[in-house]
Amino acid sequence: MQNIFRSKKIRRRILITAGLVFFGMQLFNPSLKNPPVVSGHDLMATNPPPPEVAALLHEACYDCHSNETRWPWYAHVAPVSWWIVSHMKEGREGLNFSEWPHADANTVGDELGSIGHQVQTRKMPLPSYTWLGMHPEAKLTDEQRGRILKWTESAAP
Ligand code: HEC
Repeated sequence: MQNIFRSKKIRRRILITAGLVFFGMQLFNPSLKNPPVVSGHDLMATNPPPPEVAALLHEACYDCHSNETRWPWYAHVAPVSWWIVSHMKEGREGLNFSEWPHADANTVGDELGSIGHQVQTRKMPLPSYTWLGMHPEAKLTDEQRGRILKWTESAAP
């Protein structure tokens, strides 16, 4: 096997093939267009959380759980883009702060309970979100987690 890689010709072919595959993948980058933000629908529109909690949610959750995703440059590069976009899609499907169910007390209660649980058990924000020093502001301390939890309990209808 090793001898194959010693050959300059084969090494060059491998490089060229890898390059072509990489550029080929870029043709399949998903669209990063956010769904529209409808005024009055966001969690912050009525009964907003205390300002510190609102700031924490914006920093640590809104990229995956709202229609206001801030896309980093690497979200434009396949195959990372496929992985990131699937997180955003799944995240928004489970919980979307831009489409908060204001009028539906039962659903609000469920969402708040679920948020408190995810934050307390450290399942959220997704650990991969803070890998490699990305999004340091989303690395929540116990105290910050406690503040979010307290809000979910006090805001429950
Ligand atoms: C990097 C993207 C990402 C970030 C950041 C993130 N989440 Fe999530 N979240 C997901 C994904 C993906 C799912 C669905 C799959 C899963 O549960 O692992 C999810 C699921 C959830 C659920 C469960 C929804 C349901 O189906 O009932 C809750 C609640 C939640 N997240 C809350 C939060 C909160 C609160 C924050 C911020 C402190 C946060 N998430 C940050 C990606 C993210």
